[in-house]
Amino acid sequence: MKHLKKYVKDQTAINKMRIAGQKAASVLEMIDEYVKVGVSTDTLNTICHEYIVDELKCIPAPLNYKGFPKSICTSINQVVCHGIPCERKLKNGDIMNIDITVIHDGYHGDTSKMFLVGDKVSIISQRLCRVAQESLYLGIKMVKPGRDLKAIGRAISDYVRKFNYSSVEAFCGHGIGREFHEENFQVLHYDHPNIPSTILEEGLTFTIEPMINVGTEKVRILPDQWTAVTKDHKLSAQWEHTILVTKTGYEVLTQRPGEEI
Ligand code: MF3
Ligand code: CO
Ligand code: CO
Repeated sequence: MKHLKKYVKDQTAINKMRIAGQKAASVLEMIDEYVKVGVSTDTLNTICHEYIVDELKCIPAPLNYKGFPKSICTSINQVVCHGIPCERKLKNGDIMNIDITVIHDGYHGDTSKMFLVGDKVSIISQRLCRVAQESLYLGIKMVKPGRDLKAIGRAISDYVRKFNYSSVEAFCGHGIGREFHEENFQVLHYDHPNIPSTILEEGLTFTIEPMINVGTEKVRILPDQWTAVTKDHKLSAQWEHTILVTKTGYEVLTQRPGEEI
């Protein structure tokens, strides 16, 4: 049995995480009106960067993180995660994840969502995005003290398998706080017989961020050493929230106004 006691946050840390989470969520709301056919992902990066720094008075955590060159991740179509903003312009029918992590007062808030670009997004793409979001919500609903962390990954992978989708195993959710990715605190989005049990405790903060693929779960990293794409070049979708374990269940620290979970 693994223990996560050392990652439990005190009330001061939790209050700061709450603010960081709300600020990260506000970036996803702010950027919505700019996500349009013809806009480059670099432009979206610049708008988010300036908002995070100038309006929110936060630090964009991805910038220079282990050498990542931009302030946000933009992952389009077959890109699973860690897409680097560039000159590429959005096309009608693209699906794109924008992943935002801000640092407020030393604490991180990490959240991402899918955007449907233009009016020609196929029913197949729409369904993938919806099922990926539903899988995140099912994972979140597993969270409460005393529950095994494994229940999250099991709920996610059992659900998406019903649609013949796969859940990526190469990347995980993570403990989060003063650290962007807390070491040795991984949240798997799949089930495996050999995963050790880890019991959730009140005061833990971590992300759940399933990456769901139409085809194989296998990924390949491009020569830029960041961009992860599906091995078969089929579509992938991801949604992410930062979660706090409460006495009775969970609080979604990055929940957006009007978002029903
Ligand atoms: N925000 C991503 C996550 O959910 C991590 C991005 S790391 C970066 O964990 F360097 F690519 F920004
Ligand atoms: Co994350
Ligand atoms: Co993220």
